[in-house]
Amino acid sequence: MTPSKKRAVEAEAAAGKAKVRLAGIADLHCTKTAQGSLQPWFAHVNERADVLMLCGDLTDHGLPDEARTLAKELTAAVRIPMVGVLGNHDYESGQQQEVEQILCDAGVHLLDGETFEAAGVGFAGVKGFAGGFDRRALEPWGEEIIKHFVRESIEEALKLGSALARLQMPKRVALLHYSPIRATVEGEPLEIFPFLGSSRLEEPLNRYPVSAIFHGHAHHGSPEGKTSRDTPVFNVSVRLLQQRFADQPPYRVVDLPLDPPLDSKKGQGPGDQL
Ligand SMILES: [Fe+2]
Ligand SMILES: [Fe+2]
Repeated sequence: MTPSKKRAVEAEAAAGKAKVRLAGIADLHCTKTAQGSLQPWFAHVNERADVLMLCGDLTDHGLPDEARTLAKELTAAVRIPMVGVLGNHDYESGQQQEVEQILCDAGVHLLDGETFEAAGVGFAGVKGFAGGFDRRALEPWGEEIIKHFVRESIEEALKLGSALARLQMPKRVALLHYSPIRATVEGEPLEIFPFLGSSRLEEPLNRYPVSAIFHGHAHHGSPEGKTSRDTPVFNVSVRLLQQRFADQPPYRVVDLPLDPPLDSKKGQGPGDQL
């Protein structure tokens, strides 16, 4: 089936549904020897969700062997569409392109400023970067290396903005590894807040509104927060979910209500509702 035909079939299937169920997980930190240990997490994901979102730190040290193990775990269990972003750990060994290719071959649509559509929802994703929050965010001032550091956050935010601008779907979701807000890193030591995310990532999310934002990286943060424009933000780090929802598999399922069919909306266009 061609990609456009597949999208049309998915959109048609989504049109008959009242909601889309999004499952988010981050910080799997898959090691080479993890085979068999992750599969049980995903045993019922196909019945519980319509799309699985993987929000970075998929491998522990960014090694191709770790990615191969994860690919086997995912392909053995997951049959719903998979979309994701890489995290800082996936860059550790400088082999992120190979890691990406292995996961891509396993059916994971990895986003680095690209977009993806599944089940009637448009996804935009970037890894993001650090830098701190709000009025305390690091500014590009002084030494060249500080300017370079801040430029990295700005570039990730620009990449996210241009991906969001290209999404024409009425329902849009953003995936990140680093947090765009302070609220979902709360619980971590205060000293490391600036390394866990950047408010610069929130700017494009306010300019191009989305229905929900998912991220990881803050293993001991808070599961939920909101942007300054009230968009829900979910920290779906495995360690955090295991701590807070011990009786559930370590992914978070969020229901995204879909708009009613156009003919029942009396004149509203497809982009009028979020
Ligand atoms: Fe992590
Ligand atoms: Fe991380």
